[in-house]
Amino acid sequence: MKAIRLHELGGPEKLTYEDVPLRDLRSGEVAVRLKAAALNHRDVWIRKGLYAGIKLPVILGSDGAGVVSAVGPDVDSSLNNRDVVINPSLGWGTDEKVQSASFKILGLPDDGTYAEFVIVPVANVLPKPTSLSFEEAAAIPLASLTAYRALVTRAQINRGETVVITGIGGGVSTFALLIARKLGARVFVTSGSEAKLKRANDLGASGGVNYRTGEWVKELSEMCGNGGPDVIIDSAGGDTFTKAIELVKPGGRIVTFGATTGASKQIEVRRIFWKQLTICGSTMGTSEEFSRALAMFSDGTLKPIIDSVHPLADAQEAHRKMEEAEQFGKIVLQID
Ligand SMILES: NC(=O)c1ccc[n+]([C@@H]2O[C@H](COP(=O)([O-])OP(=O)(O)OC[C@H]3O[C@@H](n4cnc5c(N)ncnc54)[C@H](OP(=O)(O)O)[C@@H]3O)[C@@H](O)[C@H]2O)c1
Repeated sequence: MKAIRLHELGGPEKLTYEDVPLRDLRSGEVAVRLKAAALNHRDVWIRKGLYAGIKLPVILGSDGAGVVSAVGPDVDSSLNNRDVVINPSLGWGTDEKVQSASFKILGLPDDGTYAEFVIVPVANVLPKPTSLSFEEAAAIPLASLTAYRALVTRAQINRGETVVITGIGGGVSTFALLIARKLGARVFVTSGSEAKLKRANDLGASGGVNYRTGEWVKELSEMCGNGGPDVIIDSAGGDTFTKAIELVKPGGRIVTFGATTGASKQIEVRRIFWKQLTICGSTMGTSEEFSRALAMFSDGTLKPIIDSVHPLADAQEAHRKMEEAEQFGKIVLQID
């Protein structure tokens, strides 16, 4: 099969389009002939060597949708030819509060979805909603699952609450905006781009500020009113996470699931306890959460935000775009 493989760490040019053999199916597995895959920032971290447990060569990619092309020895053969979307959370385990020690994400160490075929456990394929194209379905998995768990399971947002989402151009952030609005929250956002702030407003955000301006915390606090937002959903980390502690309202919640800008060095502990804050860590989610996140997009009224669609062979350009934060929403790879 054709696939994009990473043999060496480095820039986007390290992603090579090549022929790769597909291994035999084991018991409990299915092969999916992929029609579309999508990027996550994780893929960029891995390519640059900024991720734990890197093993090379590897086919990157956690998101995918396609058609079941073969089933393993003990798998129901009626699954053949079904249109499916893939849950990239592998081996979450039985505790819904936290993933098991054997939890893995599709696309490292196991080969992922930047390929014509991928092999996954049968439990990780779900019917593709008929209202969604393969590109739309492939945009959903990792980012919507992460946004869903962050907002619903961890922050437990309520209708009418004010939610701030940082870095709205990101894949997870755009899902967080869609989900928070669907659940009746009032949403404010940050971005490094005025055009992205405008796009967010068009999608139902009540306002937003450019984090490149010095006074963004003050501006956002005034916009939110009532002493600040009830909830902040942050994946920027670094100084943004430190400022989120300042911005959130007393008694509020902050959910963190990423550190795009690096470590947060100066956490003001006194502010956390005096403001009675709840700080929640979050990572992807359970199979049940994946089903619930997917269901939000199943009736066709809510669509994932797709920034652009590139042929699989142009994965280098897709990675460059993500690394430059040029996207608004998901960057998708189309696979013939
Ligand atoms: N723990 C988990 O399970 C999990 C799951 C998914 C993602 N993540 C992590 O979450 C982060 C986002 O992932 P993604 O795939 O959505 O990435 P992405 O699509 O590449 O989005 C990254 C976004 O970060 C924003 N950003 C950059 N600098 C910023 C700053 N100083 N302040 C605020 N925002 C800033 C940019 O927003 P603008 O373009 O609007 O400026 C950019 O679009 C990554 O670090 C990723 O590794 C973790």
